[in-house]
Amino acid sequence: MSFKDAIDSTRLPQHIAIIMDGNGRWAKKRGKQRVFGHMNGVKSVRMVTETCARLGVSHLTLYAFSTENWGRPKAEVSALMELLVRSLRKETKELDKNDIRLNAIGNLNALPKRVHNALLDAIDLTKNNQRMTLTLALSYSSRWEITQAIQKIVADVQNNQLDQTQIEESTIDQYLTTKNIPDPELMIRTSGECRISNFLLWQMAYTELYFCDKFWPEFDKEDLYQAIVSYQRRDRRFGKL
Ligand code: IPE
Ligand code: IPE
Ligand code: MG
Repeated sequence: MSFKDAIDSTRLPQHIAIIMDGNGRWAKKRGKQRVFGHMNGVKSVRMVTETCARLGVSHLTLYAFSTENWGRPKAEVSALMELLVRSLRKETKELDKNDIRLNAIGNLNALPKRVHNALLDAIDLTKNNQRMTLTLALSYSSRWEITQAIQKIVADVQNNQLDQTQIEESTIDQYLTTKNIPDPELMIRTSGECRISNFLLWQMAYTELYFCDKFWPEFDKEDLYQAIVSYQRRDRRFGKL
């Protein structure tokens, strides 16, 4: 039996966020370079995107490159950026055909120009699509995001655009890079690591966390279905009874 049969399609998470982890270890286990793992991770990206869209999930957010990942060896960072440009150029048509809108969050100005431009082109090409929004978190970290939100809030208070006595939680939502995206109901992390690594800290206050031991390149459809089933079996209390 497939876990797919156990999914209640009327209670799908609207927004799934994924920390795609374990590419390097997957490659190493096979005696290959870490980059080989990143290349094979693209297949899983394609799979989760197609599967979520087909199921009827409206938002999928993928943590692809963190602020802290800039601290990796230069060769790995360059290889990841190259892979990103290539994948964007290759996959955008397919996204568009599937009515998927591409979005990106993070400090995009820190990306090499080639990457930034490829990203903006893909976002522009898919901007009217409706079926699902695929958000890539690139050069993203939650503390960076919260810091830039505070800077903008302070500036707006000083410009009299914002009344400081009116600042509420929903105001803060509006200053985050995720402002038009609902909070994720389900967060999946692969590779067996049980941590958040600076991802969507504000937005995940009540997200259900799901940790999967498989490395990202081997994460398959059944693993995704299983995560959704696990989410649907949980009792979400939000502090109440
Ligand atoms: C996730 O895989 C991809 C990125 C962080 C860019 P890793 O590169 O972190 O692989 P591991 O966790 O070292 O195996
Ligand atoms: C988190 O993975 C970031 C991404 C998947 C893009 P890392 O591999 O960078 O996180 P740590 O170092 O294990 O916390
Ligand atoms: Mg990792």
